[in-house]
Amino acid sequence: MLPAVAAAAVAVMVVVAVVAAVPALWHRLSRSALRRAGARYRRRLELLGTDVRLSQERRLRRLLPPGTARGEGRASGRGTVVGVPGVPLTPRVSRQGSLLYLDTLHAAFPRALAPQGTALLCWAPHHRCVPAGWPLPSLYCTPAAAGSIPSRAAALRVQLLFALQQRALHVLEAALPAELLDALAALRSGWPELAQDLALLTPNATRAAELRAECARGFEGIVQRLWPQLEVVVVGTAHGAEQLYCDVLRQAECKGLPFYCPFYRAAGGESLLGVNLWPEEPAPRFLLCPDWAFCEFLPSPAEEEPRTVLLGELWEGREYGLVLTARPGEYRCLLGAVLRVTGFHKQCPVVDQALSVRGESIPEERFCQSLCRAVGMWPGARLVDYVCVESALLGASSGACAPHYEVFVELRGLRDLSEGQRTLWGGGRSWLAPAPGSSARPLV
Ligand SMILES: *[C@@H]1O[C@H](CO)[C@@H](O)[C@H](O)[C@H]1NC(C)=O
Repeated sequence: MLPAVAAAAVAVMVVVAVVAAVPALWHRLSRSALRRAGARYRRRLELLGTDVRLSQERRLRRLLPPGTARGEGRASGRGTVVGVPGVPLTPRVSRQGSLLYLDTLHAAFPRALAPQGTALLCWAPHHRCVPAGWPLPSLYCTPAAAGSIPSRAAALRVQLLFALQQRALHVLEAALPAELLDALAALRSGWPELAQDLALLTPNATRAAELRAECARGFEGIVQRLWPQLEVVVVGTAHGAEQLYCDVLRQAECKGLPFYCPFYRAAGGESLLGVNLWPEEPAPRFLLCPDWAFCEFLPSPAEEEPRTVLLGELWEGREYGLVLTARPGEYRCLLGAVLRVTGFHKQCPVVDQALSVRGESIPEERFCQSLCRAVGMWPGARLVDYVCVESALLGASSGACAPHYEVFVELRGLRDLSEGQRTLWGGGRSWLAPAPGSSARPLV
């Protein structure tokens, strides 16, 4: 009788242990398979980089409709937009990008791929938000469905709550730096309620007490205090206005942590073109992968008779406008993106991102610097965010060579503007609901 009971108990214990081990086991198995695939693709990329001309030719042949790929002439002149917009990222390219991301992240931060060691902050109510490491869903402690909650504030709060629950977080990932900033602002303003929710819902009173203690000590470097094992902040984009948000985060809540922007995307994030293989470097630079898209380049500033050059014909230190063929049906799209070639990896160009404002070759970085300088003329003013559109007031009458912009800015720390200063900032239309102590005005 007794041996039978003991055997049953052992069997139950074994089953329990196996079931408990399965998610961790599953994670380890898939992680090592994906890392092997990532390393394989990395080697293939090295090989492709030894002959970018051939890789680009192959890519173009795959993009052209059947029967038209023969005898294509040398591409020249300005590109035109043809065909169907908004076809989603091709799964093959997106998968290869993610594999390179997992491989690169693991090489730089060996503990970064721990199960549930990544929290994702992103809001995408109409489509699923695709995180950088999507082939390995067990990486994330935040549920995928949270990103599609209709209210942005609610989505970020739910994701933050899941992240707070996990003390052993290694990576904090945000689709946009602004989302991370807003989630941390919600922590700043609502930590007592968040601590209460942690104690009641998770329920973990120890963690709730930790949260209360750390928030009471202030918010500088709060991210590293709440998650002591955190190694890196991953952001989906870090240029233009998003760069401002990264700078604010680096100086306050995320002090002491490296920021890593893994991908270079174009056409509103639809096309993946390059990958950042250097996560430890503060300024992102991207390797253009020769078999992800067919790229042509217009030397910038524009020449009298613009003539495109190919991926293998770029010069280090020069800037180029991008003409992209990334999907069947969308050929030679002139995107207005300006890239600066900072070096080469084999024959593949390494670029940094400099979006132009209206395709007129003013890199967005330079535009942003000028704007910051202009804002600096008001004592105490700080630029929080901006968006720039072509001026509708002058319209076509301004001519193609003299574009005028309408810049909407969100400022903080600006009070009691004199009448003279007010007129400089133009009319009284608000773009953002001004936060207390800030003002948002169009600058014409
Ligand atoms: C509760 O929080 C503490 C401190 O962060 C942690 O060590 C512990 O593992 C957590 N417990 C559970 C069940 O998650």
